[in-house]
Amino acid sequence: QLTGNMASTSKAPVQSRNLPWVEKYRPQTLDDLISHKDILSTIQRFISEDKLPHLLFYGPPGTGKTSTILACARQLYKDKEFNSMVLELNASDDRGIDVVRGPILSFASTRTIFKKGFKLVILDEADAMTQDAQNALRRVIEKFTENTRFCLICNYLSKIIPALQSRCTRFRFGPLSPDQMIPRLEHVIQQESIDISPDGMKAIVTLSSGDMRRSLNILQSTSMAYGKVTEDTVYTCTGHPLRSDIANILDWCLNKDFTTAIVDNLLHFENLAIILYKIKSICCPFFQVDFPPNIRMVLLIKLADIEHRLASGTNEKIQLSSMVAAFQAVRDLVVSEAS
Ligand SMILES: Nc1ncnc2c1ncn2[C@@H]1O[C@H](COP(=O)(O)OP(=O)(O)OP(=O)(O)O)[C@@H](O)[C@H]1O
Ligand SMILES: [Mg+2]
Repeated sequence: QLTGNMASTSKAPVQSRNLPWVEKYRPQTLDDLISHKDILSTIQRFISEDKLPHLLFYGPPGTGKTSTILACARQLYKDKEFNSMVLELNASDDRGIDVVRGPILSFASTRTIFKKGFKLVILDEADAMTQDAQNALRRVIEKFTENTRFCLICNYLSKIIPALQSRCTRFRFGPLSPDQMIPRLEHVIQQESIDISPDGMKAIVTLSSGDMRRSLNILQSTSMAYGKVTEDTVYTCTGHPLRSDIANILDWCLNKDFTTAIVDNLLHFENLAIILYKIKSICCPFFQVDFPPNIRMVLLIKLADIEHRLASGTNEKIQLSSMVAAFQAVRDLVVSEAS
């Protein structure tokens, strides 16, 4: 089972045609990675001085943590030693203490056939490990430091017990900036000969907020479903309301009288939660709508309440009316303050 997992992500260049692009364009070497140059050069130096410490990579999804350690492993080991020198465990494997006492311990404790160098244990998604397992791992790491290096990967650093954190050199993988994502997306666009408009690119970058995996997935699904990648097709494909829809909804709420017709209109839209979020973010930072601050506050609190109720799974239709009513109430406030 363990070797099965290794094969899925760690093989040398992938050629298959029907592979998801996130795998097809997974960086194969450290040089292929487009971000975190400081982290990469530090790790390169560790490797070239043969002083690799235990590593702990953390940060949001799709920022290159798994790709980085796999590229390191590929640089450290030849293809034929890979399976005997690298143990990769990810979320699909069991995360209890038995894994530490079983596969990890037996891998770390057996001597290497290739005398030189250390073995590498990659614990992807280590934040899913139980406390017991983490505590047990602590001793295993210590005991086999001589011939084994560990690399822990997680999204949430706080879920790793301090005793493990202190045994590792930590690296934070932050979200990728648009400057980093765009050239990589352009590379894929060129390789796959995709028809994309500038606003389509912008929409992908906005919606993926620094997550390279998400940006590639949106690019692939939109171009497969709609052919041309534009702002509209990207928003439609990802189930986001169009910008013009949001403008319309806001216009209804702010300028039309409260009637059931507004609610009926709104019911044509899917994904009310996203609509609310968008409207809140329009109303929030640069309040394009000119309400006095105290009234803005009332509106935001009302919208936040609705969001909260939506998140806890209430009827969308009722919350929709609630949103229209919130705007209406706020407009009444504006009128009464003015008089
Ligand atoms: N820094 C990067 N440079 C180039 N491609 C990247 C980078 N980061 C992510 N990608 C792309 O996104 C995909 C997912 O990256 P990866 O699996 O390394 O993310 P991760 O940080 O491990 O995410 P998660 O926390 O969800 O496991 C890769 O296959 C690659 O196509
Ligand atoms: Mg990963």
